[in-house]
Amino acid sequence: MKKNIAPSLLAADFYDLSSQMKLLKEGNIEVLHLDVMDGMFVPSISFGMPVISSLRKSVDFFFDVHMMVENPERYIEDFYKSGANGITIHFEACKHIDRCIAQIKAFGLRSGISLNPATPVSFLENIITEVDMVLIMSVNPGFGGQKFIPYSLDKIKELSKMREEKNPKLLIQVDGGVDACNIKELSEAGVDEFVAGSSVFKGDILKNIKALNTALGE
Ligand code: DX5
Ligand code: ZN
Repeated sequence: MKKNIAPSLLAADFYDLSSQMKLLKEGNIEVLHLDVMDGMFVPSISFGMPVISSLRKSVDFFFDVHMMVENPERYIEDFYKSGANGITIHFEACKHIDRCIAQIKAFGLRSGISLNPATPVSFLENIITEVDMVLIMSVNPGFGGQKFIPYSLDKIKELSKMREEKNPKLLIQVDGGVDACNIKELSEAGVDEFVAGSSVFKGDILKNIKALNTALGE
């Protein structure tokens, strides 16, 4: 399976998105991670549909919308209409996960469930057969630029085992504090998609992408 680095827009300079999008394209990026925060589920507020639909007109990345939003079922259709290709909801933010995942899939989107650092992988035991992707948060969601929480690696290993037994097609994504120092280890533990904010956008974007790819061995 192809491994993907998914730059997180949250770390971009919002004054000049278009030149940064061009650099991502030049760096052969395929997936753009879009962090939507509601100020309720997480302390901060980021951006929403208008930003995503404006970007959609000009770039053809796979739009991976990470909803850090309470009761996300309220907005699935809106994000679909804004141009999302995949939607990830938080296990902790949704009362009826099964219904919400079915809703995402009904729009033909890639469906994902995200787990906060303290939420055990075992909670996925039943729903794992129904989703396309699981996102293991390796920082407490809400802000970019935080330090990777080491026990996330054990959660990824545990999830990899569960994947083997229950849903071999499942994608595993990791988000938070991913950089050139830990990406290889995360890959070996079973991660397919690496969300990277600061380690892509801070400094020279093309150099950063190259450094991540080199560390990954791709
Ligand atoms: C955190 C977001 C992340 C964040 C990652 O709540 O979900 O996607 O942008 O940023 P870095 O890579 O800087 O930790
Ligand atoms: Zn994210």
